[in-house]
Amino acid sequence: MVFMGTNKHIYLTGFRGTGKTSVGALLARSLRRTVIDLDGVVAANVGKSISEIFQDGGEVAFRDLESTALESVSQTENAVISLGGGAILRAGNRAIIRSTGVCIWLDCDAETIIRRLQQDDASLEQRPALTTLDESQEIRELLKHRYPLYQEAADHRLDTAGQTIEQVADQTMEWLERNASV
Ligand code: S3P
Repeated sequence: MVFMGTNKHIYLTGFRGTGKTSVGALLARSLRRTVIDLDGVVAANVGKSISEIFQDGGEVAFRDLESTALESVSQTENAVISLGGGAILRAGNRAIIRSTGVCIWLDCDAETIIRRLQQDDASLEQRPALTTLDESQEIRELLKHRYPLYQEAADHRLDTAGQTIEQVADQTMEWLERNASV
């Protein structure tokens, strides 16, 4: 599949802890594009952390803010946009992603995600519990539930297990150069 990539965003999707934010920063540098972290936009729009948004209004309030933020960033100049792990849950969001960009899915097995999230200091502020399950069960269940949605939203899947951020960014660049003429 060939994309007219130059006038499209590059979206990064995938579960929490798959490296979207770090890979996005590297990609943006290589492509000389602006990088946008959707969670950052949501938090800045309301002046609260993601955890505070969940505490005050629950997940639905967060998803509403996330959809509004996606709609507005999708209309900006072409950028590299790191999505939150659940931004693909709403069909309307998936439609925006598909119509305004090329989407790369950073995938990973549950064990690696569990390990990475435990090591990531941002988890507390940015990643409130999404279910009443314990953390590792939540990750397994949500990965299963979201798998077809990532598949639907994305143009390409990359397995990031055992890879450094730099390796994932290089592989993403290679794929984009071959398939998206960026
Ligand atoms: C979420 C992932 C988070 C953040 C929020 C909800 C999710 O982003 O958007 O906590 O539903 O998976 P990261 O994927 O950047 O951690």
